[in-house]
Amino acid sequence: MGAVVATASLLPSPGVPKQAGRSRIRPFRMRLKIPPIARPQRVTADYDFYDVAVRKADVEIVKGLRTRVWAFDGRFPGPTFKVKRGRQVVVRRRNRLDVPISTHLHGGEVPWRSDGHPSLAIEPGEVYDYVYPNGQEAATLWYHDHLCHQTSRNNYMGLSGLYIIEDEDESDLNLPKDRFDIPLILQDRDFRPNGSLRFRKTVDQLLDQIYLVNGVPMPYLKVSARKYRFRILNASHSRIYRLALADGAPLIQIGSDQGLLSAPFPTTDLLIAPAERIEVVVDFSNYSVGSSIVLEDRAGTEVTGVAKPVMRFDVASVEPDDSSLPSILKPVEPLLPGPGTIEREFVLSKDFDKNRWVINGEAFDAQRVDIKPRLGDTEIWTFRNASSMAHPMHVHLVRFQILDRSDGPVSPGELGWKDTVRVDPSASVRIIMTLRGFSGLYMYHCHNLAHEDHSMMGQMQVLAAADGPAYAGSRESEPPGSFVCNLPA
Ligand code: C2O
Ligand code: CU
Ligand code: CU
Repeated sequence: MGAVVATASLLPSPGVPKQAGRSRIRPFRMRLKIPPIARPQRVTADYDFYDVAVRKADVEIVKGLRTRVWAFDGRFPGPTFKVKRGRQVVVRRRNRLDVPISTHLHGGEVPWRSDGHPSLAIEPGEVYDYVYPNGQEAATLWYHDHLCHQTSRNNYMGLSGLYIIEDEDESDLNLPKDRFDIPLILQDRDFRPNGSLRFRKTVDQLLDQIYLVNGVPMPYLKVSARKYRFRILNASHSRIYRLALADGAPLIQIGSDQGLLSAPFPTTDLLIAPAERIEVVVDFSNYSVGSSIVLEDRAGTEVTGVAKPVMRFDVASVEPDDSSLPSILKPVEPLLPGPGTIEREFVLSKDFDKNRWVINGEAFDAQRVDIKPRLGDTEIWTFRNASSMAHPMHVHLVRFQILDRSDGPVSPGELGWKDTVRVDPSASVRIIMTLRGFSGLYMYHCHNLAHEDHSMMGQMQVLAAADGPAYAGSRESEPPGSFVCNLPA
């Protein structure tokens, strides 16, 4: 709650912003686009190989204007990867921009050299091969830039996209699929009158008034009167949305960051913080052809009294529906603390003297390793928010479960596997995880990108399991003792 109030007080009055020309940006004028599916350039016995140029492109976001973006394959958002569990993927990224980049697979269990370490930059003109083993369960992941101190700018300019892992457990459920399985990537942006993106480097937050879904301002989507699956990603900088259907119809949540919930959770109110994913099924079969349903953002309505439109569904036809929505999706076995469970506390606060955000009093330093958890160990982390802003805290490599919140119950929609958790102002959240996957250097940080860049991030060196091989990164080499970040904060 407090989170929403904290940002709401800064919301300008609702309505259409002047900057990009009033007439050009009105809700429900443009059709929702679906990002194209990435195609492998080469398929071998061992892996699928993708080759992606990261380059500038001029795209039409605001009707009639050209917007210069930085984009994977020239697409805004980037192409969607759809991969099968157990099938290894290599993504070669060629940096054709004139700034360094580093690409992270958010939610991916990947060797550390492929994790997009903020200091492992691809310099302009360089090429880097990312190896994604895809050993993990089906989930909606995403990839995005992670360059040290420039993550916010690089993301604002367009460097993000979806990465969906599919597996048989999930396809056996016969949920809505193919053209009834639709990603909704939420971002807020602002534009100059000439159409260019108006990025501002900030320390606390960056909230813009033009809501994009898959890169289209407040679009409409023609749907059939049947069930759909929507994979919602909040790829915004700082904005926390409270999503609802304007007519009060339920959104049936089926998944969160790391895959399906144990059971569907019908709700009329979905809180989604930056980097979180929420999957829902919406059943339009109760609507007659010709009706329209608005998806809106109710965050801040306590203050403004006005919900903001995100997009609109226009029921345009009747179609048969042979998909199902089973009452049991995928059991999520609760992780239990045991005698060897390690506990850590992370205090989240602002260092007002230095005007930056810190974890346990420390700003990110690529030369410092903050913690050394060990593969196979179970750990409980407490995020204690000693500030008046919410922090969506994210841990690389692992998936976790939320044990409790100090400011109220954990929503049933948060009881699945997670990799990002909203920590409300002045509240604490405890999470539990078992370290698995790879040893090496990984990050944990706030995913409000203004905070991440200034400098609310820690570095963990994940150690090999006590009884495992000395270095669990297979073909990976041991990380260096430290990195340097030579970009300005
Ligand atoms: Cu989505 Cu370290 O980030
Ligand atoms: Cu991540
Ligand atoms: Cu934060």
